[in-house]
Amino acid sequence: MKGLKTFYICSECQYKTPKWMGKCPNCGAWNSFVEDVEEAPATASAPAPRRVSMIPTGEHRTVRFEELEIPEYLRQITGLGELDRVLGGGLVSGSVVLLSGEPGIGKSTLLMQICDALGDTRRVLYVSGEESGGQLKLRAKRLGIVGKNLYILTETNIEKILQEADKTKPDVIIIDSIQTVYSSGVNSTPGSVTQVKEAALTLINKAKGEGTSVIMVGHVNKEGSIAGPKVLEHMVDAVLYFEGERQQAYRIIRAIKNRYGPTNEIGVFEMTDRGLEEVENPSEMLLAGRPRSISGNCAVCTIEGTRPLIAEIQALVTQTAFPAPRRTTNGIDYNRMCLIIAVLEKRLGLKFWQNDVYLNVVGGLRLDEPASDVSVAMALISSMTDRVVPDDLIAIGELGLAGECRAVSNLEQRVREAARLGFAQAVVPFRNLEKRKPDIPGIRLIPIKGIYETLNLLQKQE
Ligand code: TYD
Ligand code: MG
Repeated sequence: MKGLKTFYICSECQYKTPKWMGKCPNCGAWNSFVEDVEEAPATASAPAPRRVSMIPTGEHRTVRFEELEIPEYLRQITGLGELDRVLGGGLVSGSVVLLSGEPGIGKSTLLMQICDALGDTRRVLYVSGEESGGQLKLRAKRLGIVGKNLYILTETNIEKILQEADKTKPDVIIIDSIQTVYSSGVNSTPGSVTQVKEAALTLINKAKGEGTSVIMVGHVNKEGSIAGPKVLEHMVDAVLYFEGERQQAYRIIRAIKNRYGPTNEIGVFEMTDRGLEEVENPSEMLLAGRPRSISGNCAVCTIEGTRPLIAEIQALVTQTAFPAPRRTTNGIDYNRMCLIIAVLEKRLGLKFWQNDVYLNVVGGLRLDEPASDVSVAMALISSMTDRVVPDDLIAIGELGLAGECRAVSNLEQRVREAARLGFAQAVVPFRNLEKRKPDIPGIRLIPIKGIYETLNLLQKQE
């Protein structure tokens, strides 16, 4: 467009530069710059930029703290229990939710599936910028969605979407996806940071002004870093991440931020030919088809939100053919793995520098908790020494740099879940048992002070 200047903007911190850069000089993020176009200056005909408020209108005056009342949120059940739990008990009226995930992970499927339950008491407007009405209907038919009180709009201009919404008067607006929506008042291409932000601000203003709930879909790439969704995260009330491997059936929804409920709560689904089905017993699903008596495997119990989840860590340590050995990891932080390897080298004298190391968490789960350290270490030792971690053993504990095993939170809850799933022995931090030793039937606790104590738990491979 004539007279418009392009510039590059960091999708992490919004630092602007006229030239593309690999690393942001402001926040240090790599590969975060995306191209954008300078907005037209405000003229008499074009309104000045609007300011957005996250608070419902009519509340902007100073009040005494004692006069304030705790609000009661009106919630609407979505019909998918796993999603309701992640939202903190249903979709809050007037809240803005961002559902982000890689393309093809199942975002549109999930949103179509909740339309029926929402439609029982609410009017739902599904705005699609990616699929035609016919395609949506076909999918709904496959999913067995009746579509009572459901209205479909295939439109990407935000001003027109609002006009239509004024006619339909929906209680819930679903925007699929925010990257396709554009405002004619802004001169950037759809999907650019400026357009995505403008469209989101318009929708947030509508939600807060009229009490309409808005669910926006945001696509992210494998690194989780396409411009749009990242810059929206601080503007919306809740951010849900849809995770999982496209090739596998499991899908996990995780609340990264939630103004109306707990964060880090997860919901587990399985993608079937009839859409997403809730998985009520994720540990059982993650352990299904577990290999028996093979070196390199060790079970772990992680706490996701309020729920314990049993997962399996697999390590493969092989002799390297490269000058610098390879280290790859899936589901565990790369630096955490390097740290654990360094501890094992220093404290147990294991020579990992001659070996490639591959580490994987089965089922596409991501373990962020240090409580999985001991299990990672045992899987590594097991593969390195070709000895087996007993199938009925689970390992819980954090590793310190001196090789010591540190206490973890919610130990009893973790061990109970392990016992429920048939594990008979649990390696646990000695420090957790100093004050009180939980008595859980069916499982023997093996308290350890340091990682060296796990060596004699490994058995010879048959
Ligand atoms: P989709 O919801 O379109 O993904 P997104 O909106 O996140 O881009 O669905 C993605 C995949 O799900 C698609 O490849 C087909 C698959 N799928 C099923 O396996 N079963 C189903 O019932 C449906 C509707 C989709
Ligand atoms: Mg989609």
